[in-house]
Formats: sequence, structure tokens, C-alpha cells
Amino acid sequence: MSVPVYYDGQTQQFHLQAGQCSYVMQLYKGAYLVHRYFGRSLSNVSINQPLITVDRAFSPNPDPADEHFSLDTVPLEYPVFGSSDFRLPAIEAEFDDGSSILDLRYVRHRILPGKPQLIGLPATYVEREEEAQTVEIDLQDAPTGLVVTLRYTAFAHHGVIARSVSVANHGVQNIRLKRVLSAVCDFPSESYHLIHLPGAHAREREMSIIPVGRTAQFLESRRGASSHQQNPFFALATPFTTEDYGDVFAFSLVYSGNFLMGVDTEQFGTVRAMAGINPFGFGWLLRPSETFHAPEALLGYSQQGLGAMSRDFHRLFRKRLVRGAFRDQVRPVLINNWEATYFHFDQDTLLELGQSASLLGIELFVLDDGWFGHRDDDRSSLGDWKVDIRKLPEGLSALEKALREQNMQFGIWVEPEMVSPDSELYRTHPDWCLHVGERTRSTGRHQLVLDFSRSDVCEAILDQLTRLLQSAPIRYVKWDMNRHMTEVGSKGWPIDQQREIGHRYILGLYYVLEELTRRFPAVLFESCSGGGGRFDPGMLYYMPQVWTSDNTDAIGRLSIQFGTSLLYPSITMGAHVSAVPNHQVGRITPVDTRGLVAMMGNLGYEMDVRQLTDLDREKVSAQILLYKEIRQLVLFGDLYRLRHPHTQRDAAWMYVSEDRDEAFVTYVRILAVANSPMDRLILRGLEPQTEYHAKLLVYDVSYEIPDSMLDVTARGDELMAVGLMIPHLHGDFRACAWKIVSQPVS
Ligand code: DGJ
Repeated sequence: MSVPVYYDGQTQQFHLQAGQCSYVMQLYKGAYLVHRYFGRSLSNVSINQPLITVDRAFSPNPDPADEHFSLDTVPLEYPVFGSSDFRLPAIEAEFDDGSSILDLRYVRHRILPGKPQLIGLPATYVEREEEAQTVEIDLQDAPTGLVVTLRYTAFAHHGVIARSVSVANHGVQNIRLKRVLSAVCDFPSESYHLIHLPGAHAREREMSIIPVGRTAQFLESRRGASSHQQNPFFALATPFTTEDYGDVFAFSLVYSGNFLMGVDTEQFGTVRAMAGINPFGFGWLLRPSETFHAPEALLGYSQQGLGAMSRDFHRLFRKRLVRGAFRDQVRPVLINNWEATYFHFDQDTLLELGQSASLLGIELFVLDDGWFGHRDDDRSSLGDWKVDIRKLPEGLSALEKALREQNMQFGIWVEPEMVSPDSELYRTHPDWCLHVGERTRSTGRHQLVLDFSRSDVCEAILDQLTRLLQSAPIRYVKWDMNRHMTEVGSKGWPIDQQREIGHRYILGLYYVLEELTRRFPAVLFESCSGGGGRFDPGMLYYMPQVWTSDNTDAIGRLSIQFGTSLLYPSITMGAHVSAVPNHQVGRITPVDTRGLVAMMGNLGYEMDVRQLTDLDREKVSAQILLYKEIRQLVLFGDLYRLRHPHTQRDAAWMYVSEDRDEAFVTYVRILAVANSPMDRLILRGLEPQTEYHAKLLVYDVSYEIPDSMLDVTARGDELMAVGLMIPHLHGDFRACAWKIVSQPVS
């Protein structure tokens, strides 16, 4: 096959070839869109063997003349309920006669070059038409005129299919949509493991693996945000899948609000996988001639385990999800004053911090929470984005100027989706927050959520932020969001559209972000939600990096960053070195370990660097120098996870440059072990025949390391089979690293 999307008119099969994977659908009886295959690449354009259907008891037949055919027993692309399939549907709608039955049948399809844009929603994209092809398939429910358009894009160079769905009302009655999932995929058997990323605040995205059982297993958010608690991602993997081995099917939803993802296993053992907006609390009134657009779902396939899956998604997200000037740029090393000062600072303190940071080689100063209104704690002022002259009497532009003189760029924290009851904004517009009539307005961190489903609220916030960003040369914005939604209702919408508010909020947020990033293309935006509470592909479309977690403990960060790296590339992760004892968990770790762990993403410091001892100051300067040397590799290279921290013993990972000429390897021993074995670290991703030099960077050892370990010269195949000797690290939470470069051929 020479094109990513092929339609065989003879067999009525659609064959999508994305990278090394094939996805095949077929029109059954010329009407029903059935799923035929998803997995490793097939060379033939069509699957030769026909779809076999058998008569099953209690599975009704939509065509009374064919007792072998039931929608209940065939794999489907966009299943409906009420017309013979009893499994969970992709779509549910309610009509004027009170019925909810749907019967979607094929009408037409179009094959398009490239990838059309999604209206008002974040999505992956192409820059040249040759990068992908798209097929749009229209299915119709004839009695009501409801038309579903399924869109599938196959990327030529990624093993990923992008799916999205539009639902149009071509009839004459109002339709109430109750469920519109973005993707459903029926798998032929239940012999998979489900991998997902559950967590909590400060403990986000810890990888969990559970066998798929004979029941429904869902991950979801009902919090109004994608959440710390579950991430809109899961994978189905064959048992015994490792980093390098096994078939993996990954599902990622490009969405930042309530979602539903997971699997449902039916009576015959087939598994229906699904992803989309959470139907819980959702509804949408679709009037005649209107169209509803569901967010994009990405379906990826790897036949070489989790590592290859991650690297494929990393490349796709880095190159064709993230946008703007910073997509291809290394990010500045930053200092953030949050854990250094919390709310208690003045201009002198900030400038002293800036001065110390600048001498260490730090490039950007981020002024966190507490610079506006009269915010001395978290009880006030959200919504009043005007500088607090008690703390900063000369304002932001004077602070920026002074920092610039110290050779530092300036960045600022905002939380624009929120309002404090104690604020000018709330006193002026008490109905601008999400609320339901006279019901109690529950607060979280003493704040309410602004009603971004309303365009007047969105425009007002946009104006405020525009004025703020014009008030000084602000080069970076940390956009925070510190509570989840309750009393989800809006004064801006009629009663019969109140179930739309959760989704309309996200559309409003996307609109504000689109507009703001268009107005300020030179600003680097970092998204945050109490750390990584909204670490999802939807936010990455607008803001190219995320504050990964409020947990800055190096050991806690290992599992958070490993879990995050399952889907998200290093360049999207903010990672900071903080003080010890760590403020979240009280652990004391060496500064070298804190540095090496934070080098797994965009390096920053979040501590009072004025307090560093001379020795630590030297070490921090050296680690910033090292990071500047390797950040191109970390941010744009391929990640190989070598040892998972969930063993509680150690963790190791490496980055390899695209040309495989350079690599950087990090090893962290969690707890010290007496008389530990002579352990070797097996590397990955190198060129087998190339000779490399590996330089060991080791800190704080209480014995001499032989020269033969400090400098190793060996071929890639040796490093990937024999491996590198790991030095005996003395003490808990110790780390070392290797800088690896290919040797010129003599
Ligand atoms: C939560 C963030 O995750 C922290 O980094 C910090 O910005 C605080 N909010 C400030 O309130």
C-alpha cells in the first residue's frame, strides 16, 4: 500500500495504514460499519477472509431474513443501542417521541489528503498533506435524520490513528444527545492487561496494571477537569508485555474535562474499548441544522512493548500536537519562588533570590502566587489581577527590569479560571461563577470556579490577561487551576441546556487559550492544576509544558515522572529541585539526586537558593551547566526506561539523540543495600556497530571508583548486552549518570 488510507470498492473495506500498524473496517451488507482488525501492518489491501457471523441465542436480528446476523455479535466501529446490540453504545440520543433507538447505516465516505482541523477543539495536526490521509464516513439514522460523521486520520510516520466524531441534526425535531463517545474499538478477546495512570494530588499518574476481567472496567473523571485521579489514557497490552516486548494498544483522549475511558467485556469474551466525554452529567441539545463535535481520540499500536508506544506518542505530541514557537526550542532553566517564600515576599527578597539564581546560571525568574490583590494567603483576591503595591511598590515592570539587569527573564503565575469570594471581581459579578440558583456555592481552597461556559466571562478574563501581559515584558505564564467543579450550572444558559455546562466550560477555556496564545506568541505558557491535575493532550495543544506535580521530592517524583512518561514527552514536564527536608514528604535526599531526577524534564529550582551551602552552590552550578549541555538530548531525544521505580529498589532511564550519536543515562538507587550484587545496567537505543565513550558522573562515593569504570569505551551492542557496571553507591537515594558519545571512526 502506498497511501495511508485505502478503500477497496470490491470488498468494501477501508484499510488505514499508520506507521507500522493497520486498521481495517468493512461495510457489512453495504450498511453496517464493522471493525475488522487493528494491529501489526498487513501487506494486502483487504482482509481475504470474510466476516463470519453465527446465530447466537438471545441476540436479535435486525434483518429478519438473516438469523446469523446480529449487531450484538459483530465488532462495530460506532455502536448504537436499541437495534440489537446490548453492549454499551458509542452514542445515545433522545427524540421527541421519547424513544432513544438508533440504527446507523452507511451513506457515503470521502478520502481527504492530510488532516482537517477540528472546530474549537485541540487536536493533532499535519504541516504537509503527505503526512497523513483522512477518511470521513457518514452514517445515518434514517427515521430521525441524525447523521454521524466518523473521521479517521492515519499518520504516515506514526503508528497512531486519530479519530473524531461529528453528529449533525438533518431532521426537523430537537435531538437531545446523552452520550457521544469519540472512539469505540472492539477487540476479539479478553486476554489483555489494562494499563492506566491513577493517582491523587501530589501523587499523579502512578502506573497501574490490571488484568482485563469479564466485566466493565472504566477510568473516568467527574471533576470538571481531566484530574490527578485518572488520566485520559489507557493501554491494552498482551500479558507479559515489557518495555521492549508485547503488543500494546494505546488510547489517549485529547480533552481536558470529564472523560470516560476503559473496557467492557461481553458474554463471548470480546472487549469493547472506548474513550470520550463522560456521559455522566452530560447532555447536549441539538437543534435542526446544528452539529456537535466530539473531541479527538488517538489510538496507537506498538508491537514492541511499552517503550516503543511511548516513543511514538512522544514524537507525535512533540511535533504534531504542541504548537507555537516553543515547540522546537529548549526551555529556560527557571527559579520559582513558591517553595522559597510562599505568599510572603517583597521586591527586595525577590531580587535577592533572582541575583543568587542568576549567579547559578538560572535563566528565568517565575513569580508565583501572592503578587496581586491583597493575597497574603489563599483566602482572597483571585480575579483581581492587579499588582499588590504593598509587596511590589514599583509594579511588575520595574521588577522585570531589575531582573533583566540580573540577566533573568521574567515569568508570572495566574489562576484565571477562579474567583475568590473576597475579591473585587466577585463583589461586582457574583453570578460569574458556576452555581445553581440559591444553592450553597461549595468552595475549594476558598475559591469558586468562574463560568467559562459564558462568552462574556471569557471575554472579560481575556481582557484582564491581555492588560496584564501588556503591562510588562512577561516571557512566561504559569496558568494554575486549584479546585474541581461543584454546583455545575450557569446563569448564562437556559434550563434545558444546563447539562452542557461542563463541556461548554472546556470549550470556553479552549477559546480563551487559543486567543491568548495567538495574542502573545512569544510567551511560554505552562499549564498547572495543583501540579499535574490537568496533564492531558488537550492542554498541551495550547500550553507546551505542564507543572508535573506539586510533589517535588526526588524519590516521589520517580514514579510520577515514569508514569507521566508513558504517554507524555520529557519536554512537556516541568521538574524542579527543591529544598530538604522536602516540603511534601519530609524526605532528605542529596542535591545531586534531586538535580538528576529533575533533569528528566524542564529543569527548574523551587527553593531559597540564597540558603545553599557553598558546597551545594557549587554542585547546583555544575548541574545547571550539565543540564544546559544535555537539554537538547533530554527534550528532543528518545526516552528508554531501563528500570522502573515501582520495584522500590532503583530506577534508570536514558535519552538517545535522533542520530544515535549521543546518550545520557541516569541511575537512581532508592535504598542502600549491604553487599549488593555487582549490577550492570543494560542500555537501549544505541547503534550496535558504533563505538561509544561512556563517561561516568558519580557523586559522593566513599570509596575510589576504578578508572576502568569512569571511562568506558565499547560498541553499542556491548553496551546493550553486557551493559555498564553500576558503581556501589553509598547511602540511600544516591544517583549517578553517564554521558555517552559516539567515537569518530578512525
Ligand atoms: C498550586 C501549584 O501547583 C503550586 O506550584 C503553586 O503555584 C500554588 N498552586 C500556588 O498557589
